Amino acid sequence: MASLKSKKLKSIPAEITVPGDKSISHRSAMFAGLAKGTTVIDGFLPSEDCLCTVHAMQALGATVEPLEEVEGIGLVKLAITGNGMKLKAPSKPVDCGNSGTTIRLLSGILAGQNFKTELFGDASLSRRPMKRVADPLGQMGAKITGQGEKICAPLTVEGGNLKSIYYKLPVASAQVKSAILLAGLFAQGKTTVVEPVPTRNHTERLFTHFGIKWLREDDCVTVYGGQEPRATDIVVPGDISSAAFWMVAAAATPGAQITLKNVGLNPTRTGIIKVLLRMGALVTSSETHSDGEPRGNITVRGGDLNATVIGGAEIPNVIDELPILAVAGALARGKTLIRDASELRVKETDRIAAVAQNLRAMGVTVTEHPDGMEIEGGAKLQGATLPCWGDHRIAMAFLVAGLFAEGTTTIEGTECIATSYPGFEHHLDLFLLGDTGARPIPVMSTVPQPLVDKMNRAKSS
Ligand code: S3P
Repeated sequence: MASLKSKKLKSIPAEITVPGDKSISHRSAMFAGLAKGTTVIDGFLPSEDCLCTVHAMQALGATVEPLEEVEGIGLVKLAITGNGMKLKAPSKPVDCGNSGTTIRLLSGILAGQNFKTELFGDASLSRRPMKRVADPLGQMGAKITGQGEKICAPLTVEGGNLKSIYYKLPVASAQVKSAILLAGLFAQGKTTVVEPVPTRNHTERLFTHFGIKWLREDDCVTVYGGQEPRATDIVVPGDISSAAFWMVAAAATPGAQITLKNVGLNPTRTGIIKVLLRMGALVTSSETHSDGEPRGNITVRGGDLNATVIGGAEIPNVIDELPILAVAGALARGKTLIRDASELRVKETDRIAAVAQNLRAMGVTVTEHPDGMEIEGGAKLQGATLPCWGDHRIAMAFLVAGLFAEGTTTIEGTECIATSYPGFEHHLDLFLLGDTGARPIPVMSTVPQPLVDKMNRAKSS
């Protein structure tokens, strides 16, 4: 089992460029695989989760060509050639790894295919509820079966002739919304999803990017069936959910300043900026590109943080940032309250229980609630050896907590970080060792050997 250590931070680097956005990378690969022709995806996140999606689209008939790799991170630019919406039946069950986005969105796509597919994942994914997609996709005419009442993976998705639906989401979930909208492309007529509160809208923005007509009216998102995505190259911005770790590290360090470069600034994802501003950090963002997905730089200046309340409609906007915001709460003056966040209990692990247990182990008083927690800020954090329950965001959040603790903090099981943030430890080093002692950050781009061979063969023929 891998482990990583952190201790009191030595310095705050001036700039960090985080890898590509996970949600957008997944969706780009799926849309590219459904389009006829070739889509080049630049800025792709080569994390284990997103590679599961790429491999799934390959198994379903798309061709994938690697174009650019960054050493120590992986494939950041690739070309995916699809054959249109009619996919090929895979020869074996499809592995979705740890990825909820892969299994749920893919279920929507497979609901429209005239074959049966088995989808499976790791132990964590196999505990997560899939009934939330099985129900609406079932109403549309697909047959999805799984394990137990919560319809957990392994799943069997038997696609069919779909009919459109008008569906009110019982929980605010972009994954469920996206699964239904993707299935809606295969249905006759218009499919409408009603959101209780707005969730990330990357699927809708990619609809526009790939030439698909859709409509947002108040809390309803509608897509018309029978449309096929048009292959269109795409640039993926950096992931604000990865930038979040360093935003908090700088925010909690009075006098510090950091700029996170080329980060996605989609307003359905920037809730963390508002939360940190409320807590007393100075956060500014400047958009450099506004087409498709807005992106730009975020600068955070640290200060003495104050407690805040995070809840209500803000929750879907910061859902993945809540573990690191809980750490920010522990570093702030006063009681921070997180509420309306029961969804945290069905993430890669129960993130309410995990955060509460680890904060307590570091000396923080935490009261757990069914839908959140109350964190008494201001205690001196003590270094500890902590589990992360195979959850990448718990591992990273507590390595950052370790930057503010006395002694050493060891997180066990850190291989899970590869799920969303390849290269995380190099960035952590910048805080631990200062600019001079850090292991070199991988920046060298190389064209992978198979591609070189292929190009050479083409040249000599
Ligand atoms: C995601 C949506 C969120 C988020 C997850 C990625 C997406 O999940 O937590 O990491 O890409 O749509 P839910 O839709 O289940 O809230």
